[in-house]
Amino acid sequence: MNILNFTESENDGSLTVAPGKLPALANVPHPFPYQGSKRALAHAVLRFLPSDTGALVEPFAGSAAISIASRYAHMTSQVVMCDINEPLMAMWQRIIDDPTGLADEYEAMWNESLDDPKGFFLKKRLEFNETLNPAILLYLLNRIVKGAVRYAKNGAFNQSADNRRLGAKPVTVRDRLARTSKVMQGTTVHSGSYESLLIEASEVDVVYMDPPYQGVTNVADHRYMAGLARDDFERALRKANANGVSYIVSYDAVRPDNKYGEALSADLELTHLHLLAGRSAQSTLSGGTEVTVESLYLSPALVQRLGSVKSLVA
Ligand SMILES: C[S@@+](CC[C@H](N)C(=O)[O-])C[C@H]1O[C@@H](n2cnc3c(N)ncnc32)[C@H](O)[C@@H]1O
Repeated sequence: MNILNFTESENDGSLTVAPGKLPALANVPHPFPYQGSKRALAHAVLRFLPSDTGALVEPFAGSAAISIASRYAHMTSQVVMCDINEPLMAMWQRIIDDPTGLADEYEAMWNESLDDPKGFFLKKRLEFNETLNPAILLYLLNRIVKGAVRYAKNGAFNQSADNRRLGAKPVTVRDRLARTSKVMQGTTVHSGSYESLLIEASEVDVVYMDPPYQGVTNVADHRYMAGLARDDFERALRKANANGVSYIVSYDAVRPDNKYGEALSADLELTHLHLLAGRSAQSTLSGGTEVTVESLYLSPALVQRLGSVKSLVA
């Protein structure tokens, strides 16, 4: 894999890198819209998978963009994914095992929605909250703006529909599901919290983590299903360090003025990369020129396996 098209500069002990696109990821499938998908970041993250990587473990999977990319680019032979959102993981299991049946159900719902898309969405949202049916979740994710899931305090899915759109056409969804399923055969799917998968990962595995953003997680989090307390997360990372686990963390989108996010604790001895990820959508909308910077942290065990990160980015 070509890892040379990085540019690098020093910045307060962290490295600022602007990874180029990996040709191996052209046409990588994505199964459904999901807020916070790391599709764009996959071009950077895959560069930090050692050639002897066993399983890629993704405990905050969501739409699992990094796992899909790693399988698509033949960087891993095995993926283990997990998310605290149980219906989401049930939907993932169906994508892998039964993409055709799931696509059939989506098509039936999409066709039925045409007479009254607004009313149909509300009816299906109610039905989902009663049944947690994964096929209905797929329909809801395709109808809401940018896959931005929202949950009420009682755990009910309460996001509204984007009433200007009907959701992706059935033929498109069928293709997305079929292609994703093919790439992800053999994946192990769990639902639950991330800790055990992280702490008990074997030394050949690499754990990629994209926890919910810091800014919205110290208080009640209505984005995603659960927030994450930073102290708890750092405690789990310490245990993973003690076990010699190789891991990569995406934590916060920070801007050059550091307006968002505080770095993860220095005692974790992580290698901190700032990835230049291009203009943010919000900045572009408001006519700004700022570049979005994404933080990526590499664990000491991973850096040791890689040799040195500087040699990768030089
Ligand atoms: C930023 S999203 C991940 C997006 C993912 N990288 C992608 O490509 O789609 C964070 C995910 O973490 C999940 N989550 C929140 N708390 C969790 C926990 N304690 N354990 C496991 N998953 C959790 C949320 O349900 C959400 O899907």
